[in-house]
Amino acid sequence: MTSSPEAILLVGGKGTRLRPLTVHTPKPMVPAAGVPFLTHQLARARAAGVEHIVLATSYLAEVFEPYFGDGSALGLHLEYVTEEEPLGTGGAIRNVASRLHSGPDDPVLIFNGDILTGLDIEALVKTHRTSGADVSLHLSRVEDPRAFGLVPTDATGRVTAFLEKPQTPEEIVTDQINAGAYVFNRSVIDTIPAGRPVSVERETFPGLLAAGAHLQGMVDSAYWLDLGTPQAFVRGSADLVLGRAPSPAVPGRCGDSLVLDGARVAPDAKLMGGTSVGAGACVEAGARIDGSTVLDGAVIEAGAQIRDSLIGAGARVGARTVLDGAVIGDHAHIGPDNELRAGARIWCDARIPQGTIRFSSDQ
Ligand code: GDD
Ligand code: MG
Repeated sequence: MTSSPEAILLVGGKGTRLRPLTVHTPKPMVPAAGVPFLTHQLARARAAGVEHIVLATSYLAEVFEPYFGDGSALGLHLEYVTEEEPLGTGGAIRNVASRLHSGPDDPVLIFNGDILTGLDIEALVKTHRTSGADVSLHLSRVEDPRAFGLVPTDATGRVTAFLEKPQTPEEIVTDQINAGAYVFNRSVIDTIPAGRPVSVERETFPGLLAAGAHLQGMVDSAYWLDLGTPQAFVRGSADLVLGRAPSPAVPGRCGDSLVLDGARVAPDAKLMGGTSVGAGACVEAGARIDGSTVLDGAVIEAGAQIRDSLIGAGARVGARTVLDGAVIGDHAHIGPDNELRAGARIWCDARIPQGTIRFSSDQ
């Protein structure tokens, strides 16, 4: 048995929620703090001693391998398995079982591919070993658990139920949610039915509990964010730059901003709040960018004011334009003197002429 487990990374969801931003780039490959988001998860797993990771993919899988290759640049051995039809989270795990080298009693780490977290991976494995559980789950506390899997535990941390996406107020029995990182005993993976879609959340976990299996929860207060929405993605990228979300893959020192090699930023432009500016991007005089992600080759013209927004690759934001909580798709052009606020999403390649949209009153 190896001292450090191997891991499965689930990156096969439909990933549609970052569209239209990501028509050209699937979500796990959108840069967060300067590198494709997936890099942070891979690098954190490596830092915890994981050496072998199988990527279970079903959607736009062909972009991962050309970028990450065999993983040696990250000190990893990476393998890729593509589902013909999406098999769901449990089906995806089962589908890669033949690539694992672990013995039946060895722990295997499994990660949802859209989570940014400061989870102490080694502590989760230790909890798993000491509790003797069949499966151990990282749990996080959130204010509104409805979009997640609810995981109540007893006084010893043993899981008593698993309620995926609770629908009624009565179902909201705890603020502890499934944080999307598990340790499975290898033998448990082999019990998941093969060759058909299986939801680990709706079928495997409830089924294991009903059969009396030992599922152990580890609740902590580490940084945790599901990057399922563009707004969360922008927040996560800024938190990586600020150092609030720990990752060994941030290319540079953490601080107020991250400017990648080959970007040009005018001396009197202001970058703050964890803003990242991609390679070949240009920020002109007097622009002010707070808590935002500016991808490669984008141009921010003079005096633009940008907050909590995502500016796609090759996009252009016109002079004096105000963006707050907006998502600008790759290669879209927003003319000067526009104002776009919370929730605005501009499709890739779209054109918005000068002075077309504003939200503020006429005063
Ligand atoms: N390979 C593969 N195939 N991966 C999949 C598939 C599939 O058919 N379906 C989903 N995934 C991957 C997604 O890419 C994502 O990384 C992960 O599995 C979870 O799927 P999501 O679609 O993002 O689920 P969710 O966010 O609604 O809920 C899940 O995550 C929550 C935490 O963020 C559940 O695990 C919840 O219980 C949990 O609280
Ligand atoms: Mg998710």
